[in-house]
Amino acid sequence: MRSDTGQIFRLEDYRPSDYLIKYTDLVFWLSPNHTRVRAELTIERREGGSKESPLVLDGDELVLTSISIDGQTLDASAYSASPEQLIIPKPPAAGRFVLAMETAINPSANSKLMGLYRSNGVYCTQCEAEGFRRITYFLDRPDVLSIYKVRIEASVGEAPVLLSNGNAGDSGTLPDGRHFAEWDDPFPKPSYLFALVAGDLGRLGDTFTTASGKKVDLGIYVEHGKEKRATYAMDALKRSMRWDEETFGLEYDLDVFNIVAVSDFNMGAMENKGLNLFNDKYVLADEETATDADFANIEAIIAHEYFHNWTGNRITCRDWFQLCLKEGLTVFRDHEFSADQRSRVVRRISEVRTLRAHQFPEDQGPLAHPVRPRRYREINNFYTATVYEKGSEVVRMIRTILGHDVFRAGMDLYIQRHDGEAATVEDFLRAFEDASGRDLSQFALWYHQAGTPNVSVTSTHDAARGELTLEIEQSVPPTPLESRKRLMHIPIAFGLVGTDGNDIAYKSVEGATVEDGVIHLHKRRHAVRFSGVAERPAISLNRGFSAPITLVMEQQPEAYYFLARHDSDLFSRWQSLNTLVTNALIAGSRTRRGGKIPTYASELADLIGAIAADDTLEPAFRALALTLPGEADIAREIGTNIDPDCVFEAREALLLEIARTNRGTFALLYETLADDRAFSPDAESAGKRALRNVMLDYLSAASGTPDLAATAFKNATNMTDRAAALAIVAHRFGDTQDAKDALAEFEARFRDDPLVLDKWLQIQAAAPGGNAVETVSALMQHPSFSLGNPNRVRSLIGTFATANQTGFHRADGSGYRLFVDAVLAVEKRNPQVSARLATALRSWRALEPVRQAKAREALIRIAATENLSADLRDIIDRTLA
Ligand code: TRP
Ligand code: ZN
Repeated sequence: MRSDTGQIFRLEDYRPSDYLIKYTDLVFWLSPNHTRVRAELTIERREGGSKESPLVLDGDELVLTSISIDGQTLDASAYSASPEQLIIPKPPAAGRFVLAMETAINPSANSKLMGLYRSNGVYCTQCEAEGFRRITYFLDRPDVLSIYKVRIEASVGEAPVLLSNGNAGDSGTLPDGRHFAEWDDPFPKPSYLFALVAGDLGRLGDTFTTASGKKVDLGIYVEHGKEKRATYAMDALKRSMRWDEETFGLEYDLDVFNIVAVSDFNMGAMENKGLNLFNDKYVLADEETATDADFANIEAIIAHEYFHNWTGNRITCRDWFQLCLKEGLTVFRDHEFSADQRSRVVRRISEVRTLRAHQFPEDQGPLAHPVRPRRYREINNFYTATVYEKGSEVVRMIRTILGHDVFRAGMDLYIQRHDGEAATVEDFLRAFEDASGRDLSQFALWYHQAGTPNVSVTSTHDAARGELTLEIEQSVPPTPLESRKRLMHIPIAFGLVGTDGNDIAYKSVEGATVEDGVIHLHKRRHAVRFSGVAERPAISLNRGFSAPITLVMEQQPEAYYFLARHDSDLFSRWQSLNTLVTNALIAGSRTRRGGKIPTYASELADLIGAIAADDTLEPAFRALALTLPGEADIAREIGTNIDPDCVFEAREALLLEIARTNRGTFALLYETLADDRAFSPDAESAGKRALRNVMLDYLSAASGTPDLAATAFKNATNMTDRAAALAIVAHRFGDTQDAKDALAEFEARFRDDPLVLDKWLQIQAAAPGGNAVETVSALMQHPSFSLGNPNRVRSLIGTFATANQTGFHRADGSGYRLFVDAVLAVEKRNPQVSARLATALRSWRALEPVRQAKAREALIRIAATENLSADLRDIIDRTLA
């Protein structure tokens, strides 16, 4: 393993390369342990580049076996090659030249899953961010765009399917049971978008006709026998293609679009031009094996990767500091797609929950960084919730500020100006400034400044004058490397809600710009005065989560109770309830920590019962409203001195109180939501299942016996219900025979299906309580577990560390010890996956002193390990700093 060099990359050091690679012709002679790659690069000096500069190409674990320029073999003195670099001190001075090289690589030994590797016998590649340099020497940077031609040769038996980017060219048979296929991609692209797949795969085919009448062949390649399980993904793909035409006027541009599902994959999926590669968990689904959440993720990720064709591929990033330019924007686009395909408010609530669960702790901890970072040691560690999710929120705010039509005009301008280029965040913002005539310089701080802004609000109402005043103050907390922050432009959507539930039409406003229901904060303090407000309204702020901030508003609980029932904005209804519940749970946790039994206002349980029974609200909304914040959510809101056992008990106490208060309502709902129609994965049906399974949890808690959930498990006819029932039995009644039987039955039934067995691992890894350490440790020995497969590792170790607060944070530190052993074992094979896993310890300083000391010990044990990878070293150093 190449260990950390400590090198830091800085945005301000960006320089264009001295050379360009116009054409890249590749030939692969595939073989499991000894693959040869021939690369012919047509190279030019860049206009304005230095005339004397050497040609320096990137490599990573490469072996060079031959090299020539314009057909002349290079003398050993004319170049120097190491596994990490190829240097040609004096390349030809005149015009362009062709550099031909051959490298030897071993796909079977590639356990990092970057570059060319094998997954279940299938050859596949992952080149983002810097994997192409593991295939051949190259200017492996996103601002070097090249036109690729690829020829693949392989054994017919081993790899009947041969795929690469672009359109299919020649193909045919060769001697010795081998064959070849050629692929041409007419669109210049950076090396990170290169892909190759070769193997024995089944295919699900379809076609799509674009708005301008071009017919596109669609293919999804999966393990033989699983073709049917790709039906939903194919449907999602066609809907994505149509949506991008209708919403952004963006059409597909090649004759073919292929997707391949692979079982060993570091991330979710990858947008390689014309050949998307997917973690199979985001392709394969049917009612037997996938939950409703899986279907929704597949839809979103298929869309995300497809949308990259324009936002990422046609317009790519100048350098990796600009990662959010493609990722934040593409997440925004996939969020909008899912909102249009499903329920907008339900999707929005889920997005906000995800943002708070993943991005807020990142932004508020040692790994905080701006949406556009200025420095990195290991770029793999910057595929973060901040770049993706907060990056999406920033694009959403641009739309909120400019309005939908001007936003669309800005997108059009961005695409028209930069199609075929490698662009920057500044280019992106300039398109919106030019389309709108507005100055976005203060707004741009959302890209440049880390940390979640705090906005605090107090209100006063002067009945005699009919005036309501909001005193609003913003502050951005310090983050690593940024102690002083500048004031931000924060758009706060709002409503003043009258006693009839309607928004009050106030007369005039002073103290801030207010447009279209949005208060624009630009200064530290604003006193925003509304006139024509006779009665004190309930104040509904940050509607739709218009800005990714922490909002603290001093408002009577009665106002929140009112808004939770009557706000015309459904997102804010959910938010008001969430505020009430979270405040109660924080108080309950503190009470428990003080050694007392938490109690809760009966109004809260009544409110929740009323929302459950309100059938004007869609079931999916009610399911979200009735799901209590998770233990990690509560811990995050408490912020310091956290004892996860107290949080757990406080949450259980409230859950029980709600369950007992509303037992009748919940039992009735559980009955009426039963559905014996054929399974359909649509959002409405999924919402009913979700609500019914929330009822099942409450009813099981209230009854104190596993009977209801065990019966639900036995009678389940789809994976959503089966997995939900199993989780309830295993989490609430883990010691009972019912739990043991259900787990055994699930295992026996899905023994041969690793993706389904992942759910079994997850459910057990998340089972609350101290036993989890022993359970997880035993499951690491299970025949289907493997430290080399990222999905298995994330399901067992990742779930334990992120979704099992009481088990992972066991006070004796045994959870951390198990975790560190696993992180270090994974690191030997796959540094990228281990580094991502290690971020589970980032909030260690928020724990109570005993656990904090144990967590620090665990981190220091990793830090003290010799020859750590750059990936893990970077995360651990920053976490401890
Ligand atoms: N660009 C991919 C996306 O759609 C992310 C990704 C996939 C990735 N595989 C990776 C990033 C491997 C780094 C390493 O978001
Ligand atoms: Zn992406």
